[in-house]
Amino acid sequence: MGGCPAKPDGYEYLYPSQAQCTACHSEAANNSLGPEMLQLNGPGYYPSTGRTANQMETLAHIGMFDLPLSAPVADLPRLPSVLDGPLTNEEASRAYVHANCSSCHRPNGGGGGFADYRYVPGGSIADWGVCGETAVLGEAIPLLSPGEPWNSAISKRMHALDGDRMPPLATSIIDYANAARMDLMIQELEASP
Ligand code: HEC
Ligand code: HEC
Repeated sequence: MGGCPAKPDGYEYLYPSQAQCTACHSEAANNSLGPEMLQLNGPGYYPSTGRTANQMETLAHIGMFDLPLSAPVADLPRLPSVLDGPLTNEEASRAYVHANCSSCHRPNGGGGGFADYRYVPGGSIADWGVCGETAVLGEAIPLLSPGEPWNSAISKRMHALDGDRMPPLATSIIDYANAARMDLMIQELEASP
């Protein structure tokens, strides 16, 4: 692993090695991450026609799937999206960790600990399996302590810039917007564990 020389913008960019690609593009996640129903079942803008259309419908229409869609797209699963209007902090956080963390943090994905950050349609953060659990790696604090983001490994890892940083490679900047939504969600859990 080697960083490129510092750029004029002050960031040091890392170009992942092949082995590092597959750390995130894990076999457990079938290697490809973005092209899945949960993420494609929403509007896409198609510059060649100037149209906006549902991506699943468009892909089905141009014959990209072996089978027809099993139901109208409105009845098929999708991640909560800001395009639908304001999201709760829980909805935003569940979509975020699905896209950014779950390729490793799922059974056999290579992520540390037992959490499963995949999005379950109609589910809740209980699906993560973190509530009431203590971190097994590093500092032995709760993975998620209702009302206490500062005492929750999931939040501390998102805010870390040292060896505890999550995701553990190819990111060197805290994603403040989404770390803040996670923290707000944890605070909101205070009254309802
Ligand atoms: C830190 C984790 C991480 C690393 C390392 C990484 N990727 Fe990705 N990559 C992602 C995520 C997450 C997405 C999907 C984004 C989304 O949800 O649309 C993605 C998307 C892609 C896509 C679009 C198709 C897809 O699977 O979604 C390609 C192609 C890709 N990455 C190639 C690479 C290659 C090549 C490397 C190594 C040089 C690499 N990636 C390293 C996390 C990573
Ligand atoms: C490239 C795979 C990968 C990705 C992506 C990833 N992690 Fe991790 N995670 C790991 C590994 C490996 C460990 C164990 C090593 C360590 O403790 O740093 C770990 C450890 C953790 C732990 C400690 C678990 C415990 O029981 O002690 C937490 C919490 C965590 N990750 C949260 C996250 C969050 C939140 C994200 C997304 C923002 C994320 N991870 C993305 C691989 C990953």
